[in-house]
Amino acid sequence: MDKPPNAPKEIALEARAREGGRLFSPSAARNRDPIRDVFLAHMPHRGAILEIASGTGEHVVHLAAALPEARFFPGDPDPASRASIAAWTAHLGLENIAPPHAIDAARKDWVDAAPAPLDAVVSINMIHIAPFDAAIGLIAGAGAVLRPGGRLFLYGPFSRRGEHTAPSNAAFDQSLKAREPSWGVRDLDLDIVPLAEKAGLALERVIEMPANNLSVVFAR
Ligand SMILES: C[S@@+](CC[C@H](N)C(=O)[O-])C[C@H]1O[C@@H](n2cnc3c(N)ncnc32)[C@H](O)[C@@H]1O
Repeated sequence: MDKPPNAPKEIALEARAREGGRLFSPSAARNRDPIRDVFLAHMPHRGAILEIASGTGEHVVHLAAALPEARFFPGDPDPASRASIAAWTAHLGLENIAPPHAIDAARKDWVDAAPAPLDAVVSINMIHIAPFDAAIGLIAGAGAVLRPGGRLFLYGPFSRRGEHTAPSNAAFDQSLKAREPSWGVRDLDLDIVPLAEKAGLALERVIEMPANNLSVVFAR
């Protein structure tokens, strides 16, 4: 069915519950603990951490509660997501989370709005649900705003060397492209690592996660 011309742009593939301003993402409820655990094991525990595409904000509050010495800068181009991030932060009374930013990673000038230098940049489940320009901008920008030794953390489904890692990821890739031809599962080795290397970021760690997702850590 065609959408009305002024329908809100689709930003998530799941039905989200709402309570006050807080949005609840079923996928974030499933993956926030494994992501937090990998983050604690392999990412900085203090300093300034920028999140791009925070969505409901459930990941950032989970990470901020676990890392009280870090200061988080979450954000999303979607206003309802920004309202949810602020509502989750207030609900939990977390003082190490800044008000949400409106960064669009596809815009080359997002680095001008970022607090720099940063100890980490994080983006969870974004680059396959956005045009490839968002991945290009995210990674180039991370190379510019991270301090030497800073880390870029990506989470999501990836193919490896041109091959899907599971039939479910191949089907997911097809369904993403059917919804929006510019979306799709990205190839870690062929698409993402070359962008990272161009931005001065070295692939440090690839961690297999539940449901055929990967956590990927790059070092500046
Ligand atoms: C599937 S949601 C993931 C949200 C959250 N990270 C999570 O895992 O629950 C994808 C998010 O990417 C955001 N997004 C899409 N294009 C973007 C862009 N160019 N720059 C920054 N964020 C973008 C959307 O607004 C949406 O909140």
